[in-house]
Amino acid sequence: MHKTLLITGGAGFVGSNLVLHLVRKYPNYTIVNLDKLTYAGNLENLRELEGASNYHFVKGDVADAVLLQELFSRFAFDGIIHLAAESHVDRSITDPLAFVRTNVLGTVLLLQTALRQWEGQMDGKLFYHISTDEVYGSLGETGYFTEQTPYDPRSPYSASKASSDHFVRAFHHTYGLPVVISNCSNNYGPYQFPEKLIPLVINNIREGRPLPIYGDGQYTRDWLWVGDHVEAIDLLFHRGKAGETYNIGGNNEWKNIDLVELLCDLTDEALGRSPGSARKLITFVKDRPGHDRRYAIDAGKIQSELGWQPKVCAEEGFRQTVSWYLNNLSWLENVTSGAYRRYYDKQYAG
Ligand code: NAD
Ligand code: TYD
Repeated sequence: MHKTLLITGGAGFVGSNLVLHLVRKYPNYTIVNLDKLTYAGNLENLRELEGASNYHFVKGDVADAVLLQELFSRFAFDGIIHLAAESHVDRSITDPLAFVRTNVLGTVLLLQTALRQWEGQMDGKLFYHISTDEVYGSLGETGYFTEQTPYDPRSPYSASKASSDHFVRAFHHTYGLPVVISNCSNNYGPYQFPEKLIPLVINNIREGRPLPIYGDGQYTRDWLWVGDHVEAIDLLFHRGKAGETYNIGGNNEWKNIDLVELLCDLTDEALGRSPGSARKLITFVKDRPGHDRRYAIDAGKIQSELGWQPKVCAEEGFRQTVSWYLNNLSWLENVTSGAYRRYYDKQYAG
């Protein structure tokens, strides 16, 4: 069946992995990628799609109401998968308003435009909002986030995502807009901007730079291979129930220090360096303000209702990730030149 689909933020990390997957898998869909191309967006990720007849790229801002209206009139979308966001916690601490503008205002404008366009003919339409487990707050040593866990965002990033989630639900309850929300744990894999822990560590090992570990390094995250997230998004877009929320996770918890040590060993091995050399670069630095201690996801609902579970195990996923970054040095060098250096020096000063 033909569908016309709007993906926002499709030039970012999760977005470009998703766009590559959908354009290849659904040649009969028309897929429009709307992305502002901020520092985190990179058309190089999508180069192989140049010339694909079922794919269109539009450079633009989700907070531009006029542009959204034009796009909806031009394409008559059946579905939206909304990923565009400011996504880095550390940046949200220095510039929270940018997160309000894109994550909150941008989402509400997109909801409003979809509602206006679909009013009276909601059948077969879906607004699918991609969110994060960080909206649930922080866990102690035990326990998991379920879909019933009350929201308790604690960083400007998670507060902006929580706010956008609330608006998405409000549009469902108030206006009957068909929506699905998924809340996923930390993704890793190709095309992640090296401000995030895993690509930052691989890149710094390569360059022989210190590996900054915030605080005591005992903070815990659940890591999911980005391709597994993409498959969950594909499944939920087609089979998720309107009005429902689904948690997505890797069942793969790591303390930051243990993960960084593993990445050190894998990267030494891949670079042919002597065992233990990268670990010498580990440097404990000032903690992130308000740092959430632990995230862990109970993904039982999507597993029992739709049969999704992660396919890529930690060992294979981390190994593939190290090898992807080391084999894509021109990508890494392009995204870490210029503005990245200025960001890095400011973020990790003193
Ligand atoms: P990212 O920062 O790599 O990419 C964000 C993309 O959005 C970029 O291409 C950027 O250019 C674009 N963008 C930013 N502001 C925009 C605007 N105003 N208008 C249009 N485009 C804009 O982020 P990501 O890691 O790919 O995350 C994508 C989505 O998935 C986000 O909504 C994030 O909250 C969510 N998510 C990410 C993870 C993760 O681990 N990466 C986990 C759970 C949920
Ligand atoms: P990050 O990749 O920024 O994801 P998030 O904060 O959204 O979970 O960080 C993952 C974990 O790694 C988090 O506990 C913060 C920590 N971290 C460091 O210790 N050093 C760093 O330089 C970065 C970027 C993150």
